Amino acid sequence: MTLSGKTIILGVTGSIAAYKAAELASRLVQREANVNTIMTEAAMRFISPLTFRSLTGRPVVTGMFDLNSEFSIEHVSLAEAADIVVIAPATANIIAKLASGLADDILCSTVLATKSSVLIAPAMNVNMYENRITQNNLSELKSRGFIVVGPDTGRLASGEAGPGRFAGISDITGSICQVLGRKGDLAHKHIVITAGGTQESIDPVRYISNRSSGKMGYALAEAARDRGAEVTLITAPSSLIKPYGVELYSINTAQEMYQAVRDIAPRAGALIMAAAVADYRPASVAKDKIKKANSSLTLNLVNTPDILDNVKGDFVRVGFAAESEHLVENARAKLQRKNLDLIIANDITAEGSGFGADNNEVVIIGRGDAKNKLPLLPKREVADKILDEVAALLP
Ligand code: C5P
Repeated sequence: MTLSGKTIILGVTGSIAAYKAAELASRLVQREANVNTIMTEAAMRFISPLTFRSLTGRPVVTGMFDLNSEFSIEHVSLAEAADIVVIAPATANIIAKLASGLADDILCSTVLATKSSVLIAPAMNVNMYENRITQNNLSELKSRGFIVVGPDTGRLASGEAGPGRFAGISDITGSICQVLGRKGDLAHKHIVITAGGTQESIDPVRYISNRSSGKMGYALAEAARDRGAEVTLITAPSSLIKPYGVELYSINTAQEMYQAVRDIAPRAGALIMAAAVADYRPASVAKDKIKKANSSLTLNLVNTPDILDNVKGDFVRVGFAAESEHLVENARAKLQRKNLDLIIANDITAEGSGFGADNNEVVIIGRGDAKNKLPLLPKREVADKILDEVAALLP
């Protein structure tokens, strides 16, 4: 999601993870956000304000009484201008101060003065994190509407292992997008999306699959999340980073995808089948690894269930049609056969489009004569165009 026109306060506090906040600032700027950094005294022991000034192209606020600042009464004007305040990393100290409403530094004062959402990404030693006092403070903040991302579990700077690691940058940016999109046109709508190519086992180590990367389905999931939807992503194996803030079901086979869709979609507003579901699977799965014995091997394949055909319910149904010839005619026939509301036709012979690519060139076809031919676009933009049409069909 582009963050163009959004103003984000990035509060950096004194954790060893402070250096990772530089990467976060950079990612937010790449998405065109205005990033105003506030650093605590302790943060400046770990990383220089110059780093954030250079990355964000904006002055960095480092103290309460900075006469050279462009902000009038700083904490108030900063707080009012923010669409979201992100404290990353957040130490046990800032969490305690926020929980008790202290205002003895510029970051706490800004948080106290803001009406925007506040997101914190804790990062600290495992014992400090697990301490009842910190846990109570975090509960208090959550009950007051603060959003807490992480911490992750793993190796900590102290050499110990456990919860306390700074959350992944993509989780933090994902959460920011989700919070900023909360009141979008898909708010209170539940959308189920399938993604990736199913894997049909031959024996314990081999399977039949296809070239689907999952990129289109994952882009749809993120786009729907960023427009306020509650999203369930049913995914075949994929190397993509799991989108933050999305309910995820991992499946392998077409049969498992069918069961998941059948259980979940009837409660949803829309089902978007972006997955490349295998049409055939081996009739039986060999118990042991098949040995290289003969000069040829015949696999007996049987049909998998057609998910869209079989899952009934009163939800908007969207299918994909990957075609290599007669794109629109074949897609229209599929739309009718599967009783769909929309079908997204993509020509898999087009250069730089379709399976595995970052871009897609599609035609969105509705019932009747409606058809929307889009140029080659990044999958995220294609996702938003599809969701525009889904939103118009939702009750
Ligand atoms: O494979 P086919 O071209 O028929 O896929 C068209 C649409 O049907 C896609 O949206 C795909 O996800 C869905 N499909 C399905 N169940 C299958 C195969 C495909 O729902 N077994």
